[in-house]
Amino acid sequence: MLITAALPYSNDRLHLGHLRSTYIPADIYYRYLKKKGVKAIYICATDEHGTPIAVKAEREGVSPKQIADYYHKLIREDLEGVECSFSFFSRTTDPLHYQVTQSFFLKLLQSGYIYEQEIEQLKCPKCNRFLPDRYVEGTCPHCGYEGARGDACESCGRYLRPTELINPHCTICGSKPILVKSKHWFFKLSAFQDRLREWLTNNKSLPDNVKNYALKWIEEGLRDWDITRDMSWGVPIPQAEPNKVIYVWFDAPIGYISSTMRWAIENNSPDSWKDYWLRGSDAKVIHFIGKDIIYHHALFWVAMLMAHGDFHLPHSIIAGEYLTLEGRKMSKSRGWYIGIADYLKLMDPDPLRYYLISAAPLDKDADFSWEDFIRRYNDELVDTLSNFIHRTLTLIERSFNSTVPDPSEFSNIDEEVLNKVKQLTALYDSALSSYRFRDALNLVMEIAHLGNKYLNENAPWSLLKTDQERAATVLYVCVQMIKTIASLIQPFMPSTSERIWKLLGLEGSPEEELLVDACKPIPPGRKIGQVSPIFKRISSERAKELKQMLLQHKS
Ligand code: 2FM
Ligand code: ZN
Repeated sequence: MLITAALPYSNDRLHLGHLRSTYIPADIYYRYLKKKGVKAIYICATDEHGTPIAVKAEREGVSPKQIADYYHKLIREDLEGVECSFSFFSRTTDPLHYQVTQSFFLKLLQSGYIYEQEIEQLKCPKCNRFLPDRYVEGTCPHCGYEGARGDACESCGRYLRPTELINPHCTICGSKPILVKSKHWFFKLSAFQDRLREWLTNNKSLPDNVKNYALKWIEEGLRDWDITRDMSWGVPIPQAEPNKVIYVWFDAPIGYISSTMRWAIENNSPDSWKDYWLRGSDAKVIHFIGKDIIYHHALFWVAMLMAHGDFHLPHSIIAGEYLTLEGRKMSKSRGWYIGIADYLKLMDPDPLRYYLISAAPLDKDADFSWEDFIRRYNDELVDTLSNFIHRTLTLIERSFNSTVPDPSEFSNIDEEVLNKVKQLTALYDSALSSYRFRDALNLVMEIAHLGNKYLNENAPWSLLKTDQERAATVLYVCVQMIKTIASLIQPFMPSTSERIWKLLGLEGSPEEELLVDACKPIPPGRKIGQVSPIFKRISSERAKELKQMLLQHKS
């Protein structure tokens, strides 16, 4: 299975909203697949073309490539910092990507799915250049918002063409543009209306939010799509004059394929990308994206793949909904966001991964609230998870010479608890297989709850004085539960899982343990590691301090 995460534009750093909608769920799913023993890779890259990068470069007096280089490195560090375990993280300025995009374009041109047409475009007389997308701003014809951009209106969310703007002006010099004719290339999206409708309706593995949103667009009628731009930053149009490039939204998704090719080359098996992409192979491709780009993935991209014919259509597209911050929309320009790097300076990635998944199901909007983050950290990670493990292991350290005790015969209660753990593990598997990340995580926490309850009801600390054998059995059962927790929590909180694994004195890594073995018991007699709590309470003073550092306005 090929897991991809939307390619971030390399013109800015990422924030918690991106992690929540896309990168963490994709990473969890990929890690889960590996636990299922599925041959899988996780591919991403930076999306390095388009007018946002070109305009930013122009404003800063550097080349677009310099901007792309700078952000590629930072984005990659941020994502790796929160333990996104990409098989390969590529870039769309890779020369291989240019080749693959151009040959994709040519194939569609030859088969008649791309055609040429002369259209009128805005041009700035002062800068003497065309004004695609974000090179132009003006008033939105739909809602009257004055700061609408040439590609979309931020206020009403509608997609726009530059020529639709009222009172347009060049974003570089402010001049009023004129209309000039220019040759463009169009993709016959309209020809795919029926096939797309059928694909969306019959694809059982597409989630409802993606299916319904895309079908709504189809009902409005699909228009052919201008896939070229009059500018120089981008993949050059084959056999065309200079200063014309392929539109970024045409080349970016092809980046999923070219990045897989680059991964294959880097892994010394240059043909292995074919196992994932070529029709006829039994691989499945799953795209993780944010909900704002459902249109591009479930319609444009699928139609492009249909037109091309050699590659798999997506098996599924998982679209994460938005994350608000303290109830308000996150906005980089208004300084209301938490950057990944800002968070990582203060805390470890796992509590964040935990919170972003447990805050709400992926197909519902979620809110990041600092109070709630701290409350869950203390109540769930410390009181429920960490305390269960810590209480069990300190008793073993003190009373059983740090050795997993030898159980005597299991009581009905013991059998029941161990069976329940098996049931929860099966439910976890089915939740993750249907992308219900929050449910799966809650099921792991249910094992920890169950463990605390079992521990309290059986009170091995008292038994130690009266019935050493029974105390040994109870602690043995607890150790098995902890081991299952370590294994199941691995896709969600990889470092925490490693630490629990070490505390239990286990060899290898929880990453290598298959899901079928998650409930396989540890034999008695094994030495456990040096005991220390995996999470410690955050005091209210410290919580306030952290909040101060994280949530101040940044601009
Ligand atoms: O919306 C975005 O951030 C785009 N850069 C996503 C591209 S995803 C894929 F098509 F490459
Ligand atoms: Zn101008």
